[in-house]
Amino acid sequence: MATIYCTATSLDGFIADDEESLSWLFATPGHDKDPQGHYGDGETLDFDQFIPTVGAVVCGANTYAWVHRELTQGGQAFAWPYEQPSWIVTHRDLDLPKGVTSFAGDVRELHAAATEAADGKDVWIVGGGDLAGQFADAGLLDRVWIHQTPVTLGAGAPLLPRRLRLQRVRVERDG
Ligand SMILES: NC(=O)c1ccc[n+]([C@@H]2O[C@H](COP(=O)([O-])OP(=O)(O)OC[C@H]3O[C@@H](n4cnc5c(N)ncnc54)[C@H](OP(=O)(O)O)[C@@H]3O)[C@@H](O)[C@H]2O)c1
Repeated sequence: MATIYCTATSLDGFIADDEESLSWLFATPGHDKDPQGHYGDGETLDFDQFIPTVGAVVCGANTYAWVHRELTQGGQAFAWPYEQPSWIVTHRDLDLPKGVTSFAGDVRELHAAATEAADGKDVWIVGGGDLAGQFADAGLLDRVWIHQTPVTLGAGAPLLPRRLRLQRVRVERDG
């Protein structure tokens, strides 16, 4: 099992624009699968394949707020989109759905709980970047899996605001 920060990013290293929007991401063409069911060159960021490998989900407060906004904008009741045990890292007093727990403090404690809940599967750090960085600071971030889009934003929420040396494992073209 691994702790993985998996996210999409702009070319200049932002995961959301300065209005906390992901419209630039959803407007990026090239996500269609080929007839074999692959994206681009092969095994790229395919959430259909990724999600079953995830045993626990960890998400920052602003990211949770974005998910909440997106999923309720038509006036529908909010339902957290993941079945896995999930943690929202926040100091806010949130009314969270079943299966979603709030956490505040040192991510080493959260990592232990999420790892146990994941039961041998991976722990997914959804974002944001500083939250992934807190896991990296504690030596608990195993993998960074980014889907880089050919868009520059100039400003926004940073991908991973730390100075880290990573090992490049694989690069594939998606669409
Ligand atoms: N491109 C993508 O695929 C992707 C992926 C993920 C997110 N996003 C976007 O990125 C944006 C959010 O990023 P963000 O950088 O603002 O970060 P975030 O991690 O979602 O939220 C940061 C907030 O989480 C809380 N927090 C973080 N660490 C904590 C800790 N150890 N204990 C308690 N609370 C803690 C703090 O809020 P409080 O103290 O106020 O609770 C902090 O201000 C959103 O717009 C989201 O949609 C995009």
